[in-house]
Amino acid sequence: MSDLRLALVGCGVISTRYLQNAPMFKGVKITTCADLRPEMADRQAAAFGIKAKSLDAVFRDPKIDAIINLTIPNAHFEVSRRALKAGKHVFSEKPLTVQPKDAKKLVELANREGLALAVAPDTFLGPGHRMARLSVDSGEVGKVVAGTAFFMSRGMEHWHPDPTFFFQPGGGPVLDMGPYYISALVNMLGPVSRVTAMDGMGLSERTVTADGPKKGSVIKVEVPTTSLAALEFASGALVSLSLSWDVFQHGHRPLELYGTLGSLRAPDPNFFGGEIEIAHAREPWQARSSLHELCGKPNHPDDKPVFANYRMLGVADMADAIGKGLKPRASGELGLHVLDVMDAILRAGKTRKSVSVSGGIRPRPFSEAEVSSLLVSPDSTRG
Ligand SMILES: NC(=O)c1ccc[n+]([C@@H]2O[C@H](COP(=O)([O-])OP(=O)(O)OC[C@H]3O[C@@H](n4cnc5c(N)ncnc54)[C@H](O)[C@@H]3O)[C@@H](O)[C@H]2O)c1
Repeated sequence: MSDLRLALVGCGVISTRYLQNAPMFKGVKITTCADLRPEMADRQAAAFGIKAKSLDAVFRDPKIDAIINLTIPNAHFEVSRRALKAGKHVFSEKPLTVQPKDAKKLVELANREGLALAVAPDTFLGPGHRMARLSVDSGEVGKVVAGTAFFMSRGMEHWHPDPTFFFQPGGGPVLDMGPYYISALVNMLGPVSRVTAMDGMGLSERTVTADGPKKGSVIKVEVPTTSLAALEFASGALVSLSLSWDVFQHGHRPLELYGTLGSLRAPDPNFFGGEIEIAHAREPWQARSSLHELCGKPNHPDDKPVFANYRMLGVADMADAIGKGLKPRASGELGLHVLDVMDAILRAGKTRKSVSVSGGIRPRPFSEAEVSSLLVSPDSTRG
């Protein structure tokens, strides 16, 4: 099958990683880029030898099969909707949209038009979470009864050159970081059925300290910056989830699951690699590294790689799924469910009442042979 010809829309911070990683994968080719600010598109086009075009020209171009939507969350719906209406498949950065009703519209539109819709994160397709899921599915820790998930940091204004959107509706740690944790949990445990939560805000204003034109500017915080939630899964598992940008330091593991036969520690779902740890009953913890698995070799940051960052794996999976008439693993339906859960956390936080969540989908497992088939040079992605 010929390559899926892709246009990248939104040429900001994360676009570089997509452009760097694209040549590692079979079946995908980024030919074009576009941005509301043409100079951003021109810069990436020159750096990566692709064409810069206007958004309208991208949507009109019959030689573009699909777009990768890397705009800010508040623009996701409109950009993805226009692309689907123009007959293009869509892979969107997270969250799929800001409002669940809009995400539902995108899923319905894609299904009606027979187009693929997929959504980041694709980190749960990496070896760390492939191993964690295999362990859960094998029954090694028994039936999962409970778990904990923590993402807590001191915000975004110290590193992102233009962090305003993180503190406006559509931003906040729930919508920004929740997708990694909730997608990883749904991949391991299946859909969420009920949520309770409480939330708060550490600071009503944030000052940008990252270098760039916005340095020193003050952002009004319009969203909760700390949310503590409890998730009930359809399987019966109960997981507490803490998401915060008010925490300088802490000592919690990103994800732990507690089963009837033992406990499992899963790696940071913001990255593709890492190690899992298993404790059988009262035996000591045993670590299993994903370093030597496909897409486990650290490649981020560029100068001193410590983390595995294989963004584009989900786009390659989408291209493969299109060829096989299947749904992508990181499907729009999964993104919609994850957004429903995040929306329930925000609503529960406001009302202090529990909120039920319906539907949901668990992605298909991802075998090593299937991962390998998407890579140009599989062995070069192992440490
Ligand atoms: N920065 C990261 O490390 C990171 C990591 C993972 C995911 N993401 C996600 O990627 C997305 C982009 O994040 P970023 O950090 O690259 O943001 P950014 O602000 O650096 O870049 C966004 C770009 O989109 C453009 N844009 C905005 N609205 C547009 C529209 N309607 N049409 C066309 N272009 C438009 C902006 O001009 C800007 O160049 C977000 O959804 C974010 O959650 C970011």
